[in-house]
Amino acid sequence: MSMERSVTVVGLGYVGLPTAALLARAGYSVFGVDVSDRIIDALKGGESPLGEPEVAQIVCEALASGQLKAGKVAEPADVFIICVPTPVRADKTADLSMVRSAIEATAPKVKKGALVILESTSPIGTTRDVIAAALQKNGLDPYTDVDVCYCPERVFPGATVREILHNDRVVGGLTPKAAERARAFYQSFCEGSPVTTDAASAEFSKLMENTYRDVNIALANVFARVAEEAGVDVQDVIGLANRHPRVNVHSPGPGVGGHCIPVDPWFLIESFPQDTKLFLQARNINDGQAQRLLDRAEKAGLARGSKVAVLGAAYRGDLDDSRESPTELLLGILQERGYSWSVHDPYVTRLHVPDGAEANLTDNLDEALKGASAALIMTDHARYRALSPEKFSVMTQKIIADGRRMLHESSFVEAGFTVVPVGAPLAAGADGEASGDSKKERPSLRVISSSD
Ligand SMILES: NC(=O)c1ccc[n+]([C@@H]2O[C@H](COP(=O)([O-])OP(=O)(O)OC[C@H]3O[C@@H](n4cnc5c(N)ncnc54)[C@H](O)[C@@H]3O)[C@@H](O)[C@H]2O)c1
Repeated sequence: MSMERSVTVVGLGYVGLPTAALLARAGYSVFGVDVSDRIIDALKGGESPLGEPEVAQIVCEALASGQLKAGKVAEPADVFIICVPTPVRADKTADLSMVRSAIEATAPKVKKGALVILESTSPIGTTRDVIAAALQKNGLDPYTDVDVCYCPERVFPGATVREILHNDRVVGGLTPKAAERARAFYQSFCEGSPVTTDAASAEFSKLMENTYRDVNIALANVFARVAEEAGVDVQDVIGLANRHPRVNVHSPGPGVGGHCIPVDPWFLIESFPQDTKLFLQARNINDGQAQRLLDRAEKAGLARGSKVAVLGAAYRGDLDDSRESPTELLLGILQERGYSWSVHDPYVTRLHVPDGAEANLTDNLDEALKGASAALIMTDHARYRALSPEKFSVMTQKIIADGRRMLHESSFVEAGFTVVPVGAPLAAGADGEASGDSKKERPSLRVISSSD
C-alpha cells in the first residue's frame, strides 16, 4: 500500500462505487459520498445499488467488512477522488456543474498534504480551472499544499472490475510530484501500469480515445451508407478490407451511445471549433443513423402513425444502461412522425423519453411486437440473434429494420418479410412490402480463395 490510509470517493456511480469497493478490498478505509438518497440508502442497508454481479459482490463485501462506509457529506481523508457525471447540455456545451458542486462541497474537508484526483471525463484544463481553483478558494495552494491530479477512467461496462484492476492508467499531475504520488496510489490497488504525465495531457488523452472511436464508427457508417446505395453488403466488404494488415474498419450500426463516445468529442468541438470539423461531422453521421434506419423502413412500406416495436433500449448488447442510446434518439423521431411504440429490453428498466411521451418499456417481447407494423432492432442483445420469423407473426406488417445485423436474414425473407439491414440493400420476400428502386437484388458475395 502507498502511504495513504483513507480515501473519500465523491460520486458513487458506475465508476466511483466499484473504485471505492476495490480500494476498501485493498485495505483502505473508504468513505463514499453521493447526493442520491437511493444510492446512500442502499449502501447503508448493506446493498449494492448497481446490478453488475461482480460489482455488487465486491460492494457488499466491502460494506460488510466495514472498510466502506457511505453518506451524503464528505469526510476528511488522505486521498479524495471526484467521480461525478460530466454530461453535455442540450446545446452540446460541457456541463461541469456537478464537478463544481462536488469539489466546492469537498474542498473544506481537504487538508494540507492531501492527494486530490479528478476521474470524471473533462474538457482540457478542468483540473486546473475547476479543481485547483476551488482548493485555492479554500486557502490551499494547489501546487504546494496539496497534490492535484487528473486520472481518467476507461472501464468497459459489463467488465468493470476487471478493467479497473487491469487497464493501464494515465495519471496527470498539476506537478510532477503530484503525478508520481498518484502513480504510487493507483499501483497500490490496480495491476495495470500507471503512466505519468501532466494534467492537461491526461485530460486530452481520454477525449482523444473516445473521439477516435466515434470517428472510426462514423467512417464505418459512411461505408454502410455507400453499400446500401451500391447494392453490396458492407459486412462482406469490411471482411475483405480488414484482410489488409494495417486496416481495421469498425462495425456500422444504428448509432453510438453511452455516457462517453457520443459526449466526449463535444468537449473538443466546443473548445477548438475551427480544428475539429471532422469530429462534428462524425457526431452528426452517428446521430443520423437511427433516422436513416427509420427512413429506409418507411421506403420499404412502413406507414407513419402506426405502432412500431423497438427492440433494445440499451446502447450496447447485454447491458442495462440506456444513457444516450440510439433508441433515445429514435424515440424523438418516432414522436415527431406520429408513431406510437413499444420498447422491448430484457435488462433496461429506466429510459429517457421525449417530453410528453411514455416509455412503453417492456421485457415481454410478444407484448412489444403485438400489433406493430415494423420491428426496429437497435441493440445487439445476444438473445435477439436466435429470433425466428414465427416470433414476429403477431405484427400487422412484415417489416424488420435490422440496425445490428442480428437476424438470420434469409429465413425471414423466405417467410415473406422485408428486411432492411444496416449496410446492405433491403431484402424482400414474396409478400414483402418493398416497392420501386429500394427493392434491389443484392449480388451474392463471390469468395475468391487465396489459391485462386
Ligand atoms: N460509466 C463508465 O463506463 C465510464 C467510463 C469512463 C469514464 N466515465 C466518466 O466517469 C464519470 C462518472 O461516470 P459514471 O458513469 O460513474 O456516472 P454515474 O451517473 O453512474 O454516477 C455518478 C454519481 O455521481 C453522483 N453525483 C452527482 N453530483 C454529485 C455531487 N455533487 N456530489 C456527490 N455525488 C454526486 C450521482 O448521484 C451519481 O450517483 C463521468 O465523467 C463519466 O464520463 C464513465
